[in-house]
Amino acid sequence: MILCANFKANKTRQETRVYMAVVESFVSANEIDDTIIVFPPFTALEHVPRNVLIGVQNAYPAQNGAYTGEITLEQLEEFEIRTILIGHSERRHILGETQEQIAAKFRFFAENGFVIIYCVGEPIEIREQGDEALMRYVDAQFEGIDGHYPDLILAYEPVWAIGTGLVPTADQILSMHATLRAKTHAPILYGGSVKVENARSIMELENVDGVLVGSASLSANDFCEMIAQAAELKQQ
Ligand code: 13P
Repeated sequence: MILCANFKANKTRQETRVYMAVVESFVSANEIDDTIIVFPPFTALEHVPRNVLIGVQNAYPAQNGAYTGEITLEQLEEFEIRTILIGHSERRHILGETQEQIAAKFRFFAENGFVIIYCVGEPIEIREQGDEALMRYVDAQFEGIDGHYPDLILAYEPVWAIGTGLVPTADQILSMHATLRAKTHAPILYGGSVKVENARSIMELENVDGVLVGSASLSANDFCEMIAQAAELKQQ
């Protein structure tokens, strides 16, 4: 399983240190061999050896240059960051990133050998229009994206499930993940209102290779509990 904690714009540097200490000691004490990735805000990046992966929630696709307010490859290399989230719905909808910009970002970080967690997912009004509209929408999110990139991890995050407490039915997750599986051999994560209470049943579903957790991951204990659930599932 792959378990990711997306902090979004939460936690200070000091809070992240405390959090990482809890998660790292849990991972080593329990000999966890699942892939654990934490995405803190840029200000909390540190160059220290870790037993979990650290990724960034965004970056600008350039080596360096005149991109006011952005972080580029040069700054990520200083922290040995090799993992990036691309296409998150908050960047698509709040920051207005277009599919073209997202594809350019994907190409650049793929060329630089990053592990890319690529997010797709539909708003509620698209889901309400039925399967055809849903598939057309998700297909469009693959424009310019290499679904066979070897270090790709896909994440299905329905926009209406993010931060709302709403979760798709098992059938809805199964159906979307089966559709995505036909497009790529990459692991496929589910994200959107994943909590301790529902993580296990989501991770048990076919073609769900892990979870991308937002608000519930802000509690180190809750995130560790989800990691424990993934480890238990493997033993079954
Ligand atoms: P929530 O878990 O808060 O719904 O957020 C999901 C998400 O956007 C993770 O990237």
